[in-house]
Amino acid sequence: MSKYLFDEIYKSVKGLMPIDELVDGATVTVEGWIRTNRSNNKIGFISMNDGSCFSCVQIVYEEDKLANFAEIAKLLTGCAVKITGKLIITPEAKQPFEINATEAELLGACDAAYPLQKKRHSLEFLREIPHLRPRTNTFMAVFKIRSIISQSLHEFFRQEGFTYIHTPLITGNDAEGAGETFTVTTREDTNYAEDFFGKHACLTVSGQLHVEPFALAMGKVYTFGPTFRAENSNTPYHASEFWMIEPEMAFCDLKGDMAVMEAMLKYVIKDVMTNCPDELKFLNDFVDKDHTLIEKLDRVVNSDFKVITYTEAVDYLKNSGEKFEFPVEWGVDFAKEHEIYICDKVAKGPVFLIDFPKDIKAFYMKLNPDGKTVAACDLLVPGVGELIGGSQREENYDVLVKKMADIGMETESLEWYLDLRKYGGVVHSGFGLGLERLLMYVTGVANIRDVCAYARTPKNLKF
Ligand code: 4AD
Ligand code: MG
Repeated sequence: MSKYLFDEIYKSVKGLMPIDELVDGATVTVEGWIRTNRSNNKIGFISMNDGSCFSCVQIVYEEDKLANFAEIAKLLTGCAVKITGKLIITPEAKQPFEINATEAELLGACDAAYPLQKKRHSLEFLREIPHLRPRTNTFMAVFKIRSIISQSLHEFFRQEGFTYIHTPLITGNDAEGAGETFTVTTREDTNYAEDFFGKHACLTVSGQLHVEPFALAMGKVYTFGPTFRAENSNTPYHASEFWMIEPEMAFCDLKGDMAVMEAMLKYVIKDVMTNCPDELKFLNDFVDKDHTLIEKLDRVVNSDFKVITYTEAVDYLKNSGEKFEFPVEWGVDFAKEHEIYICDKVAKGPVFLIDFPKDIKAFYMKLNPDGKTVAACDLLVPGVGELIGGSQREENYDVLVKKMADIGMETESLEWYLDLRKYGGVVHSGFGLGLERLLMYVTGVANIRDVCAYARTPKNLKF
């Protein structure tokens, strides 16, 4: 008796990774959960999933071949079972094989109150049961792709010669200067001088400032981990805890930065298309609102991303004839509606927006020769808006100190960061890619709450 995962059997019968024993008629044992079970007095069919691959497998059981036929016929959706039976290879059928049961054992019973019955459940309903939703097709597909993307990002950066740095999650500074941090404390009061670290501490909003010193030692580095923001944005695109990948490169300007963004995105999307075809097909047909997901991803992989300056984008928006909720003037930060217009209507695909007004961007961004804009870049994608934010960093000590002073930032706690500009500082650039936003883009899922295992958003901390 040999135990197999459905994925192994699939790959073997399709000739992708043949296993010698898995011939037609071989005896196999599998373990998984019942999605549906129907029967008459003579024959029954279980649609079973073991989590190893997206598709379910059909188990056929017959009254004259299975001693406990009556017991198995009563099993409900959600039960865990172990099945031993004959592998029947069915090359002509939709499913490439089925299993004809000779032994069946209940491993874990499932109460009749199990909320995931065979019907379509709304994503809102599933958000209330984050511990059970991984058993649905949508969440199996999303979390498989989330795993592939994470590994694929590491692969890409490794191949490109980057070193992976683990930056801290507890920090003494607010990297973006926006003050939207969660405080880390062991005290009831706010006497941080007496607190655990002897000072105010918070959860990181970005690993960038901590990773820059490594770029100025090792050249090409990246950090990849959880990020926390206490901004009270109750939107489909904002989470209070999300994962960000942040590469940082010495001897690299904004142009080089953008080339890495584009190559990285294409690499990851290709990888998902190669490794998750069943998941993508499902998401294309049942989740993506236009059912054009695969076509869209295909186009991204085969197109050159466009580049538009912020100033050009303002002109496009002003001349669009659209009635935006937030009016556009040079100097304002773009809202989601503007971002979506620029990628859907102007660029018709992913687009780099560059050279933003310095006043709406972070203090560390490189001042352009015009003195008004910075060498920053946001990559916008259709349906999601901003997917990546990046920039060339200001490497000139005096300019950086003046920029900080102009916006009233104290420099004392960032002396270490300024040191990098005194000790062999060079042109360097980097960016931050929000993993959940990328997942929304690649899966067609419209709400960030449905690409996080346990979403953390304002007034929402389930389990
Ligand atoms: O544009 P942001 O704020 O850039 C930074 O944090 C820089 N320090 C990155 C760098 O240059 N190293 O954030 C980067 C990306 C955004 O483009 C977005 O994809 C994602 O992080 N992001 C969020 N994702 C989900 N929920 C939120 N609240 C997010 N805020 C930013
Ligand atoms: Mg940004």
